[in-house]
Amino acid sequence: MELTVFVSAFLLCVVSAGIPHDGIHWTYTEGALDQMHWPTKYPACGGKKQSPIDIQRRRVRHNPDMLQLELNGYDAQRGTFLMSNNGHSVQIDLPPTMVITKGLPGKYTAVQMHLHWGGWDLEASGAEHTVDGIRYMAEDGHFENTYYSDFISNLAKIKYAGQSMNISNLDVRSMLPENLNHFFRYQGSLTTPPCYESILWTVFDTPITLSHNQIRKLESTLMDMDNKTLWNDYRIAQPLNDRVVESSFLPRLGKGTFCRQDEIESRLHKIEGLITSLGKHMHSGGGFRNPRPARYESRGLFPLVLNFQEKNAGSYALARLSHSMDLSAFTVCMHVLPQVEGLHTAISYASNGNDNELMISISEDRDAKEVGLWIDNEFVNLPHNFRSHDWANYCITWSSSNGAVELSINGMVGERQHLKTGYRISPGGVFILGKDQDGLLGISNANAFVGKMTDVNVWDYVLTTADIRDQMSCERNSTMVGNVFSWGTTQLSLYGGIELDSQYRCT
Ligand SMILES: *[C@@H]1O[C@H](CO)[C@@H](O)[C@H](O)[C@H]1NC(C)=O
Ligand SMILES: *[C@@H]1O[C@H](CO)[C@@H](O)[C@H](O)[C@H]1NC(C)=O
Ligand SMILES: *[C@@H]1O[C@H](CO)[C@@H](O)[C@H](O)[C@H]1NC(C)=O
Repeated sequence: MELTVFVSAFLLCVVSAGIPHDGIHWTYTEGALDQMHWPTKYPACGGKKQSPIDIQRRRVRHNPDMLQLELNGYDAQRGTFLMSNNGHSVQIDLPPTMVITKGLPGKYTAVQMHLHWGGWDLEASGAEHTVDGIRYMAEDGHFENTYYSDFISNLAKIKYAGQSMNISNLDVRSMLPENLNHFFRYQGSLTTPPCYESILWTVFDTPITLSHNQIRKLESTLMDMDNKTLWNDYRIAQPLNDRVVESSFLPRLGKGTFCRQDEIESRLHKIEGLITSLGKHMHSGGGFRNPRPARYESRGLFPLVLNFQEKNAGSYALARLSHSMDLSAFTVCMHVLPQVEGLHTAISYASNGNDNELMISISEDRDAKEVGLWIDNEFVNLPHNFRSHDWANYCITWSSSNGAVELSINGMVGERQHLKTGYRISPGGVFILGKDQDGLLGISNANAFVGKMTDVNVWDYVLTTADIRDQMSCERNSTMVGNVFSWGTTQLSLYGGIELDSQYRCT
């Protein structure tokens, strides 16, 4: 469907021709020799450097020295190119005049290209490699991609496994993505038996667009060796093990999305917008020319209450923690007064490539009251029956040693749950109040906290029940503050028009 297709062409250059075709009937999903059992017949398939893989952008190493592939002889040409249905995919044998002159160690000659696609439905069509766990879909353009027209219309002539035909025009360069600058590179294998591990993979970051009809034809035309529609044609992602994926470019991070330039720009504009609106709010009569976030030590403002208003949907507070978030246990306490129904993100800590390294949400639906806790992207729900239109104190405790999670509301402890036994929260991340984090650039407006928040504290241990009850106290100085995040001491930068409320919860 897209890039992987052609990457396959390059990889076969490296392997050289002559892979034995012994006629053994391996499959992807059915029968005795499905992909889980390939290693029984083809030992290399059980190796440590198998393909495809899931490319995790956050773990990719940028290597600016990798050169763009320079292709010679890939432009439109006439000739005789054998195209065949081998029962697993469609394959085109390429002439030795197609040479990769730069960008790979050594000089390679193209040998063959083949395509991979899905086929359960349009959704499933895509590349073998996944990026951040997401399969790149062939994009569904509204216009026909004419560079693929001949190729696709010829498929009907090789409908059955083993059939082949000669095509007379081939323009491989046009079938490749326009931008060959952005690619990932890693050491891998053939993605089908015999799975030889001699492949230097190049996975382009730019998808190719085919029309709806082209995709449907590609998915429905060919038959496999059992005369069944040839589809779902890819191997599941293989473990990376100790390999490193390099990128020719600096991948931008996003949550399950492909960060394109336009998306990044729109996010940047959004953030600029937030900062501007904060600038207006905080300094409407003041002397600040440049909008900038308000940063202050809140000690002088005690008791500090943050008011996240619905009209300021973009507001959040960024914390500068006084202590590392390298935690094998924690207690998080806060007083909140949500002011609309729905899901409120109270705390979001992103680290270690996880948007949800530690996140706490409060659901204020009429029929489902619950607190959600995420650790390392895993989730546990803490349902409760507490109803109040007043301030409430929430304390959540977790301990790595047994994974125990407990929620106390106004000092009353609920049922114990378990999450991430043996895990350690990663330090060095970004800690915010009032919003969900969505990649490094994105602060998501979905599930924003709307209402008031005060007395947020985080400890690196599990508080006693008595200490948790003390959080309810209204006497000044009587409650303990956190040693990781201390309300009144930890510096906060406020964005997007958070208001400071003069009414403390005890007045
Ligand atoms: C394709 O062309 C080659 C070389 O001209 C020829 O040997 C072969 O029989 C042709 N195959 C088909 C299926 O037409
Ligand atoms: C598949 O179907 C075609 C057309 O009916 C037939 O010629 C061919 O022999 C069949 N192949 C197999 C493997 O059953
Ligand atoms: C309570 O806090 C105030 C302000 O932080 C401080 O000046 C005062 O000494 C404290 N009182 C006690 C009893 O610790």
